[in-house]
Amino acid sequence: MTTLQRAEAAEHALSQELDRVVVKSVLFTSGERDPRQPVTRPPDDGRLYMMGHDPRLPKMPDRPTLFDFFRLRFGPSAHLLQSARLAMKNGVEEKIVLACLLHDIAIAGFIRSDHGYWSAQLLEPYVDEEVAWGIRYHQALRFFPDESVGYRYPELYLKLFGPDYVPEPHIQEAYRYARNHKWYMTSRLITVNDLYAFDPTVQVELEEFTDVVGRHFRQPKEGLGFDQSPSAHMWRTINWPTRYL
Ligand SMILES: [Fe+2]
Ligand SMILES: [Fe+2]
Repeated sequence: MTTLQRAEAAEHALSQELDRVVVKSVLFTSGERDPRQPVTRPPDDGRLYMMGHDPRLPKMPDRPTLFDFFRLRFGPSAHLLQSARLAMKNGVEEKIVLACLLHDIAIAGFIRSDHGYWSAQLLEPYVDEEVAWGIRYHQALRFFPDESVGYRYPELYLKLFGPDYVPEPHIQEAYRYARNHKWYMTSRLITVNDLYAFDPTVQVELEEFTDVVGRHFRQPKEGLGFDQSPSAHMWRTINWPTRYL
């Protein structure tokens, strides 16, 4: 058996233990398999299909808050927490501390590719327009130095993408647009405080930002995902990633 076949067999065994059939979204497997091929489904054996909470995941409260998503759905958030703490230490405005805390939440819990845009879209209904704007464009600004604030092209990107990587035209265009925008510095300050050198000995707790979030994040009373905002469906998908529809 190949590694992929073994993984599929293990997954098949696992899904047989569930009392609901789980069919993964194309995006979850595209690249590992040819997305044009039909999805191979385990036999349902008369079981119903997944339409809500997946028992393999920790249960979310009925009215989930931002912090519930951090704790129960996002991957380790040390990068976000350490970046936000650095922003605080650097004495930037509170809303920029919030922007740093949330700038990569798409990577933490949703979709990595084009993460600035996804993060901004998730957050737009709940934060200042300027905060969401800054988060959207930090993705492009990360690739372009700004000596005026001591921001250099990240060493890490040389390692990750190689010395020959040149941002694609749409990223360059986004950069030029952001560079001339009145909120440029908001987005730039996210990149300045965007830490890639994690200090594994530094433990930052979410609670350190309770007040900042309380003041600058409009937590919906119905819970994130159940408030009919333009991005509520995205929060629901993070909550219930394996729903059939
Ligand atoms: Fe980022
Ligand atoms: Fe980041």
